[in-house]
Amino acid sequence: MYIKEIMWQTISYVSTADPSLTTLEMEDLFQLVKQKNNDLGITGILLYSDGNFMQILEGEKTYIHELFSKIEKDERHYNVIKIFDRQIINPCFSKYHSDFKVFGESYSHNELQNFLEGEKSYNPDNYKSVSYLTKKFMKLS
Ligand SMILES: Cc1cc2nc3c(=O)[nH]c(=O)nc-3n(C[C@H](O)[C@H](O)[C@H](O)COP(=O)(O)O)c2cc1C
Repeated sequence: MYIKEIMWQTISYVSTADPSLTTLEMEDLFQLVKQKNNDLGITGILLYSDGNFMQILEGEKTYIHELFSKIEKDERHYNVIKIFDRQIINPCFSKYHSDFKVFGESYSHNELQNFLEGEKSYNPDNYKSVSYLTKKFMKLS
């Protein structure tokens, strides 16, 4: 029997959030993204800090590219700059996370650290670069 191998792709970008987005709209976005991605088996992370988003998406190549072109056109953000767009052997994340945002004082420091620690055992090879990028973005180091 021939089993078609999945071509895994990962895309990461940073962008500027539309400054007119309310906290409620932002919460809705994070909720929607988490739900949709977990339903569709897309893994990764969505971060928000100081007016900027950073996202890592992982999944089947064609699907990830389609999703990214949709996200790019979303008017809730602009100045979308790709950090990487490459094929991977295995996904780095075990699920989709979008709970890490910096709104005023609600800094989800420990949650992000704990999450990254967990992901470290899931895929140690990819842990280093992902951990570096996300920590820099969230100003954890
Ligand atoms: C910063 C940002 C990140 C987003 N990330 C995702 C995502 O990971 N998955 C997703 O389905 N939609 C994401 N969206 C929303 C999509 O742009 C789009 O609105 C949503 O997928 C609904 O598309 P549909 O109306 O074709 O179903 C994101 C939007 C923004 C502004």
